[in-house]
Amino acid sequence: MIGPLLEAADYNSHLSGYDKGVFAMTPEWLWLRSIALRRRGHRWMAKRVKQFNSFLYHNSLAAGGDISPDVYLGHHGLGTVIHDNVTIGRRVRIWQNVTLSVRAPAGSPHRIIIEDDVMIGANAVVITPFEKSLLIGQGANIGAGAVVTHDVPAGATVVGVPAQVVRVKTT
Ligand SMILES: CC(C)(COP(=O)(O)OP(=O)(O)OC[C@H]1O[C@@H](n2cnc3c(N)ncnc32)[C@H](O)[C@@H]1OP(=O)(O)O)[C@@H](O)C(=O)NCCC(=O)NCCS
Repeated sequence: MIGPLLEAADYNSHLSGYDKGVFAMTPEWLWLRSIALRRRGHRWMAKRVKQFNSFLYHNSLAAGGDISPDVYLGHHGLGTVIHDNVTIGRRVRIWQNVTLSVRAPAGSPHRIIIEDDVMIGANAVVITPFEKSLLIGQGANIGAGAVVTHDVPAGATVVGVPAQVVRVKTT
């Protein structure tokens, strides 16, 4: 029973928390385990691990995502809800109570794509237009409480409801 879980621990073994062993059950660790289990066809167990993550940390992190192992969930991802069909790049920080929602049926090609080095502030909601994808560009900052319904350019800071660009990083 525990075999697939331990096997799944090989998935991106350089992720934070892995070095401490299977008992370092951070929400990120559990999320990545559930993804690994699902990819290996252990759908039942993937769901149980997802539910255990919800039980411990009060989040809902779908096992169908494509998530970089260095994702950071502020305050243990408390209240954070992330659908399937979400891609998250390197060094992305997601604060508490964030929702990433794809308005498309399961199995649809539409996705939320979050590029590297993005920060998503507390209570932000990112929701795709119906049956469309949405891209958050590299290095973008999503303000706390923002509601994002359209693409965000790389380096931009967006705030408010609906989110508007207030700054674009110049490098
Ligand atoms: C969006 C954010 C990244 C901007 O930070 P910044 O680049 O330092 O920008 P500033 O603070 O100079 O703000 C720029 C403008 O946006 C406004 N603003 C900043 N954050 C805002 C927010 N979340 N919602 C609405 N407006 C916001 C500021 O009032 C300012 O407006 P002004 O130019 O009219 O005065 C930051 O305010 C934020 O929301 N970070 C989230 C962090 C978080 O959730 N942490 C959780 C820890 S528990």
